[in-house]
Amino acid sequence: MPIIESVLNETRVFPPNKEFSEHANISNIAEYRALCMQAQEDYLGFWEKQAREHILWHKPFTRVLDEANPPFFKWFDDGELNISFNCLDRHLTTQPDKTAIIFESDDGQVIHSTYRDLHQRVCQFANALKSLNICKGNRVVIYMPMCIEAVVAMQACARIGAIHSVVFGGFSAKSLHERIKDAGAVAVITADEQVRGGRNNPLKATVDEAIARGGTESVKSVIIYKRTGANISIEATRDVWWHEIIQNENTVCEPEWVNAEHTLFTLYTSGSTGKPKGVQHSSAGYLLGTIISMHWVFDYKSTDIFWCTADIGWVTGHSYVTYGPLAVGATQIIFEGTPTYPDAGRFWEIIQKHKVTTFYTAPTAIRSLIKLGPDLPEKYDLSSLRLLGSVGEPINPEAWIWYYNKVGRAHCPIVDTWWQTETGSHMIAPLPGIVPLKPGSCTLPLPGIFAAIVDETGHDVETGEGGFLVIKRPFPSQVRTLWGNPERFKETYFPIEMGHGRYYLSGDSANCDQDGYFWIMGRIDDVLNVSGHRLGTMEIESALVAHPLVAEAAVVGKPHEIKGESIIAFVVMKDQCPQGTAAIQIVNELRNWVAKEIGPIAKPDEVRFGDNLPKTRSGKIMRRLLRTLAKGEEITQDTSTLENPAILDQLQQAIK
Ligand code: WTA
Repeated sequence: MPIIESVLNETRVFPPNKEFSEHANISNIAEYRALCMQAQEDYLGFWEKQAREHILWHKPFTRVLDEANPPFFKWFDDGELNISFNCLDRHLTTQPDKTAIIFESDDGQVIHSTYRDLHQRVCQFANALKSLNICKGNRVVIYMPMCIEAVVAMQACARIGAIHSVVFGGFSAKSLHERIKDAGAVAVITADEQVRGGRNNPLKATVDEAIARGGTESVKSVIIYKRTGANISIEATRDVWWHEIIQNENTVCEPEWVNAEHTLFTLYTSGSTGKPKGVQHSSAGYLLGTIISMHWVFDYKSTDIFWCTADIGWVTGHSYVTYGPLAVGATQIIFEGTPTYPDAGRFWEIIQKHKVTTFYTAPTAIRSLIKLGPDLPEKYDLSSLRLLGSVGEPINPEAWIWYYNKVGRAHCPIVDTWWQTETGSHMIAPLPGIVPLKPGSCTLPLPGIFAAIVDETGHDVETGEGGFLVIKRPFPSQVRTLWGNPERFKETYFPIEMGHGRYYLSGDSANCDQDGYFWIMGRIDDVLNVSGHRLGTMEIESALVAHPLVAEAAVVGKPHEIKGESIIAFVVMKDQCPQGTAAIQIVNELRNWVAKEIGPIAKPDEVRFGDNLPKTRSGKIMRRLLRTLAKGEEITQDTSTLENPAILDQLQQAIK
């Protein structure tokens, strides 16, 4: 019996595109295999070569990998560098006037920033941070909309060696508060408001609310970028305007040279418990991962117009907006708004207008655009496109085919990239134009990445069988630890059963077919993937039980046509089970409550009430039964260990 079964049976294969491979950075499969072989035979030599070739070192390293204290691996750890120097200064002599960022606002205004301009802005802002006494090792929370300034803020932190921790602008005051507190941030960088889909939403007011929740005495400054000019309250001893603090600052700022292992950033992500994890990344290893994937997977060319649609609040926005594209000297698009405003043609319009060559987005966006305008891409000139990418969740084959035909006009390879906040950069992805594509598969591991499918004892499963996706050897861009929680880091990612605690356990289930292609099946932990965003069921449950009327809650995912998964909450009230209009009212209240506690992305799609939850005699909630109920399917599983079988009937009923 396989431990995890797959239901997907996709047999279509799209052979490599010759026209593409003729010009590709890695131009044939033999070259890919040779790189894999090099990594196999001389692992350290392989990574050493990559690190020397792609990173500008202030002080070159002499040690490649330190494995003395697993799983706390160190890479290139006696070398020194600066990330912002690697992303900006290195281009000043070769291409200062090249556009680094093309910013398009929600209402269609366009601003170009060259490498010279971006460098000056970063230096000036870095000096302003220093004048606020922010220094190397300090944590700075960034809670900003998509704008050039957000990238400047991150790069400026990197320039002075401060550790940024970006919080997605859609998160609530409570989520922001938790993250500010956990990080012990000395400053928060925000904007007065953000503008998305024609609507202005407050950011500064949320920061005020977050700080007012207490335990945030570490925060000495709040820096506000004026986006809309909205009326906001100012705390005179703490709040400063971005435009005012940079006014008298120099546009040159000597970078702070840091150790290769210096923490570049932490980024909070959901796990199996209620508390988000502060995933901690290094400087050099992380940067290296973003650079080589720009070359290998995005086949970066100096003439490219690169567009990754991810928000900087997610790891994709870190690696493929703020760092990777700048490190290789690309011109990239940063878009403030949403894919459906003013209409569902917005992405296609931007591609046409700016002649985008490389377009990287998420399956959930693709599915919603298919629904809203299946033929819309045909109305636009998308002939500039040469490569498409997908990230965040498995892309279902039908969405893949649409993306391939309608957007890529059947000539652009699609790179389906599997990776995670914790891996920092792509792990499994096709080299475009080289690797034959199978819709729904992220295909083959990158050279140097030893991915495998194992059972619960860490042994390889048979070809085609489902199991746990692990990476057997350390790699440079991997998570270093969880902020302030090394024990949780070890338990979560390097359990002792997995290769004596040396395999990185991804938390995903997958299978690998006879051609060595990986097919991601889903999460093995209590993490939902809603529109490509990771949400812990425990986080949503904690939010629900924090409501004064709720006694108990269990949250499960249910497959959803556009969002990938939707959120179904089973709730037990302290008082009687609500009925009729009272029930509808409470559902609305609970949904808004969760939006306030975590953020609108965590709102349950459905809430169901019961006098209890299905539990075993030892009191454990039987989540697999809840998953079946959520799907509206008959319960065929064994319910003999259930203490209260009658409860199942009551929980059948959804109140939308
Ligand atoms: C899922 C986003 C299938 C997976 C970069 C992983 C994917 C989680 C893919 C990480 C893909 C990401 N195919 N599943 N191409 N990419 N995932 O940390 O479950 O936000 O563990 O990082 O998204 O989400 P995270």
